[in-house]
Amino acid sequence: MGFRVRLANDQHKRRIIRLLDETAAWLRNKDTDQWARPWPDRAARNERIMADIAEGKTWIAWDGDILAGTITSEETANPPLSNEWDDDEPAAYVHRLAVARSHAGRGLGSSLLNWAGLRAATGYGARWIRIDVWNTNLELHKYYLRQGFTFVRHCQDLDYPSGALFQKATHHIAEVGGDLVEDGPAMWSAMPWGPSVPAQWRCC
Ligand SMILES: CC(C)(COP(=O)(O)OP(=O)(O)OC[C@H]1O[C@@H](n2cnc3c(N)ncnc32)[C@H](O)[C@@H]1OP(=O)(O)O)[C@@H](O)C(=O)NCCC(=O)NCCS
Repeated sequence: MGFRVRLANDQHKRRIIRLLDETAAWLRNKDTDQWARPWPDRAARNERIMADIAEGKTWIAWDGDILAGTITSEETANPPLSNEWDDDEPAAYVHRLAVARSHAGRGLGSSLLNWAGLRAATGYGARWIRIDVWNTNLELHKYYLRQGFTFVRHCQDLDYPSGALFQKATHHIAEVGGDLVEDGPAMWSAMPWGPSVPAQWRCC
């Protein structure tokens, strides 16, 4: 059985926050301080999560009615990373990628990255998929290298914990993979991007 990707809406915010909290708890068994506490604090993190949902940037991969994974993708880089990339070519800036432990080991994270990159390439000509990664989590850096990303640099703000910048050219993405499909009309090139997505495509 495959995964269906749909835009998250207001009704999903608690479930997304729960997944991120469960993921942070799982990370405590890893040799990293990644997500050891919400950054910069719980309230501000939750506000950002809710704002991204409201703006149509956050997507969920569903396995039936189980929330199996999530990704947030946008056209612009957030401060403090706005000026840290080499160019301002169109790109998908992705954040908050997480896969439920019940669905780990099936490549869902990889499929969500490919899907977001291809969707942005088709939707607005994105040449890159870009992600900021926890500075000190070298295991996670290796994960992105295995996905075909290259390390660009660390951002200049050394206090920013997720400042290891990785990118992959979207033309290097051959396929989404992993039996993941997006719900809604299969007309990516005609699909509006972001907040202007019609309401009927937003609910699950
Ligand atoms: C990163 C992630 C989305 C990848 O999903 P996936 O493609 O389905 O891959 P898996 O979950 O099977 O993970 C692949 C490997 O990377 C490891 N890994 C994943 N995230 C890791 C992390 N944050 N720190 C250390 N190792 C990590 C897994 O333990 C696994 O190792 P294994 O092959 O030895 O078992 C998912 O593992 C996840 O939710 N990680 C935690 C949250 C996270 O770090 N998100 C990325 C933020 S930039």
